Amino acid sequence: MIITSSPGKIILFGEHAVVYDKLGIACSIDKRCNVKVFPSNKGSVLITSKNLNLTRSLTEKELFDLYEEINILIKKKSFDKIKKIYKNNELVPSFFVLASIFKKYGFKPLEIEIDSEVPENLGSSSSLFSAISFGVLKCLTKNFSKKDVSNFAYYGDLIAHGGTPSGIDNNTVTFGGYVKYKKSEGVKDLTIDFQIPLLIIDSGEKVKTGELVAYVRNQKEKNPEFVNSVLNSLDNISKKALEILVSKNLNDLGILMTKYYEELKKLNISTPNLDKIIEIALKNNALGAKPTGAWGGGCCLVLTKDEKNMLDLKNSFKQNGFRSFQVKIGVEGVKCI
Ligand code: PMV
Repeated sequence: MIITSSPGKIILFGEHAVVYDKLGIACSIDKRCNVKVFPSNKGSVLITSKNLNLTRSLTEKELFDLYEEINILIKKKSFDKIKKIYKNNELVPSFFVLASIFKKYGFKPLEIEIDSEVPENLGSSSSLFSAISFGVLKCLTKNFSKKDVSNFAYYGDLIAHGGTPSGIDNNTVTFGGYVKYKKSEGVKDLTIDFQIPLLIIDSGEKVKTGELVAYVRNQKEKNPEFVNSVLNSLDNISKKALEILVSKNLNDLGILMTKYYEELKKLNISTPNLDKIIEIALKNNALGAKPTGAWGGGCCLVLTKDEKNMLDLKNSFKQNGFRSFQVKIGVEGVKCI
């Protein structure tokens, strides 16, 4: 049996813009998804997810039929049909990852058990696909790299992110640490040798990454000039953030986080809860705050000044009914345990 573990992630700067080849900055977090992979004598592949409370099994033929069906839909850009298949069976992206690996290395009956503590919108899907890819590749070959793991994990995000994932999530959780990412240039390691005192606030609203990515894509098609100008401003903010991260200026970093929030909010993807979280953060002297990931719910990042400010903020969020938590960031990427 092989047990793999992959971290969740947060996007510090660049969400949505990164889909359109703008700069993204992200890091791993110490909430992990664990996957057990073992050979099966049942002739099929069986996936059990504790979190989704789901078990599904597919024969070799069913698996490759699904693979062909989804590939055709991807080629035709039939994202709505892919969404429907995903809605009916949340394990479809995981099966698609498996099928992509088997296409290259040959089919093997396996059982896969998933147990994840990664909160939704903090890389829950990518960490799962990365942990599955790593475990299954380990079962099938000695000859693979982390880049292969990340590339196979990307196939899962193709479905989970509504057809056009940027690739930042699969790379961040696979390589771990801090990364900068651009679609056309790939992933690059960032050396950050100081702690960024972040507090994460859960809006309590479920995020639908695929729908939000599609929503921005539709707006871009209808109103390219406006959306492109927002994307360019976001790119400039992320580029400045990269310089500031290297110079360790937390005050300026906070200002840029809030700027990113104000700019991306123009695309109408914030929610009253996300806006309220940012308002509470700024009223209580946080250095800056922004949602992270796809928006439309999920979590916000709040940059705190010092320990006392962190405590004050935790209390204020609690009083307002929001769950907040600290995470260790920049942890190791996917690994065997
Ligand atoms: O919702 P999350 O945490 O998986 O983040 C999605 C990030 C987007 O930029 C919105 C999409 C992408 O593929 O980069």
